[in-house]
Amino acid sequence: MFDELPRERLAFLPTPLHPLKNLGDSLGLDSLWIKRDDLTGLAFGGNKTRKLEYVVGDAKASKCDTLVTVGALQSNHCRQTAAAAAACGMRCILLVGGEEPETLEGNLLLSRMMGAEIKYYPDETLFTLATHMDEVVQTLEDFGLKPYAIPAGAAMAVGSVAYAVAMEELQHQMEAEATRFERILVPVGTGGTLAGMIVGAHLLDMDTRIVGIAVAADSQTTEQRVRDVIDMLVSKYSLERFDPEIVIDDSFLGDGYAQVDDSVRSSLEMFAKMDAIILDPVYTGKAGVALIRMALNGEIPSDSPTLFYHTGGQPALFAY
Ligand SMILES: Cc1ncc(COP(=O)(O)O)c(C=O)c1O
Repeated sequence: MFDELPRERLAFLPTPLHPLKNLGDSLGLDSLWIKRDDLTGLAFGGNKTRKLEYVVGDAKASKCDTLVTVGALQSNHCRQTAAAAAACGMRCILLVGGEEPETLEGNLLLSRMMGAEIKYYPDETLFTLATHMDEVVQTLEDFGLKPYAIPAGAAMAVGSVAYAVAMEELQHQMEAEATRFERILVPVGTGGTLAGMIVGAHLLDMDTRIVGIAVAADSQTTEQRVRDVIDMLVSKYSLERFDPEIVIDDSFLGDGYAQVDDSVRSSLEMFAKMDAIILDPVYTGKAGVALIRMALNGEIPSDSPTLFYHTGGQPALFAY
């Protein structure tokens, strides 16, 4: 699928798919599995590595030499963009929302180690930083560089297409395991990952309910983000228009984006103690809360094969 697109191989694929036996037993789920996109490999991996394969492919095809992107202080996307740039011999400029900390930790530290130049914007958030992208791109061009601007989370057609392709990978793995998931749980921030998954599932005629767990905004806002990226994918790749089913659950937002409460701490501990799976505090930790609550309140029937999609992000743990 999408074989003709320019692509830079950065990830170790396919990522593992395996059962979560102990957690499944304790939650009363007969068939609970995990897809390990935390193991895409490049500098601690995560979902953005898949997207960056196509983003960097496109950047190189456009003869660009500098990746520019935006994110929160502990952005996994920024860390993976810095990693992709380092691995591909490109420059990387990161615009991050927040004050420059006295001590660099977690993702921010890794981004610096990999040579990214970091610009701090104390009054901006991940979702408002886009306004500064144009001026930075212009300055780089004035210096004779060829920048490639990547929106927050690489939520663009060229990035999200990777998750349509990831669904094909998953379909092959399900066939090999003779398993069919009735439900997939995945965290949603900028929406690009879920958008790609929905498009992939549609193109492959997969009969799976993909439930996006909102971690950054309410259902309505998150659904609109996902819909916008699906529209971008449909237009960019001239796909036949379809009416996507976008399922978003915002019951697990807690105190908001990147806020860790007791339920998130419990989900991190439960995954770790039961099956030695390390979640991240911002995204998969909240999706973990969703899985636990949905299983315990019967929303997920015990005989319904369920997939927890691990999107990575663990380096942020070291800044919490
Ligand atoms: C670990 C992790 N999981 C999930 C997401 C959400 O992906 P998306 O922004 O494509 O919705 C992100 C985004 O930064 C992430 O870093």
